[in-house]
Amino acid sequence: MSVLEIRHPLIRHKIGLMRRAGISTKNFRELAQEIAALLTYEATKDLPLENYELDGWCGPVQVEKISGKKITIVPILRAGIGMLDGVLSLIPGAKVSAVGVARNEETLQAHTYLEKLVPEIDERLAMIVDPMLATGGSMVATIDLLKKAGCKEIRAMVLVAAPEGIKAVKDAHPDVTIYTASIDSHLNDQGYIIPGLGDAGDKIFGTK
Ligand code: URA
Repeated sequence: MSVLEIRHPLIRHKIGLMRRAGISTKNFRELAQEIAALLTYEATKDLPLENYELDGWCGPVQVEKISGKKITIVPILRAGIGMLDGVLSLIPGAKVSAVGVARNEETLQAHTYLEKLVPEIDERLAMIVDPMLATGGSMVATIDLLKKAGCKEIRAMVLVAAPEGIKAVKDAHPDVTIYTASIDSHLNDQGYIIPGLGDAGDKIFGTK
C-alpha cells in the first residue's frame, strides 16, 4: 500500500482554508468538492488509454479514450457524500456504490448498516471517498466488503489522513493506494485528527 500526499499548490491552499475556525457550511462544502476533484485528477493519472477513430470536422481523426475497467465511486456515509460531486465533475459517468459504516459504541467495532453496491462491481475500479481517515476502522471495513464483493482494484481518496489510520489500512490492505490532501499529526483522545478539520460530516451537512 502506498499513501500519496498530493502537494499541489491549489490543494495546499484549499486545505488551509478548510481549517479556519467558524468556516461556513457553504465554503467548507465547496472546498471539499474542489479538493475531491483535484485528488481525482491525481488518482486517475495512470488509467490506461486506447486509440480510436472518429469523424472530426475535417475528416477521420485518431483520438484516445480511457480503456479498461469502468469506475464505481464509493462514498462512505455520511461524510463521503461531501466529496462525491467533486469526483463526478471529472468522471460524470461513474456509478456510485454507497456504503454506511458506523462504530458500535460498546464493542468499538465498525459495522456496516448500508451496502448498496452497483451490479458487477467485481469488474470495476472502486474509488472510495471519505474526508477523514482517522482510526481507519470505516475505511478498512469498506475495503473488506468491497473485496468480499469481488473488487480487485481499490483506491481511496481522503482530505486529511492521520498516521494511525494510514497504518491501519496499510496493515489490513497493503494493496490499496490512498490519495490525500494532507497527512496530519495524530489523533486526540476523542479520535479527532489534529490539527484536522473538526467534524467533517457536521461541517458538510451543517448539523452543528
Ligand atoms: N471524523 C471527523 O469528521 N473528524 C476527525 O477528525 C476524525 C473523524
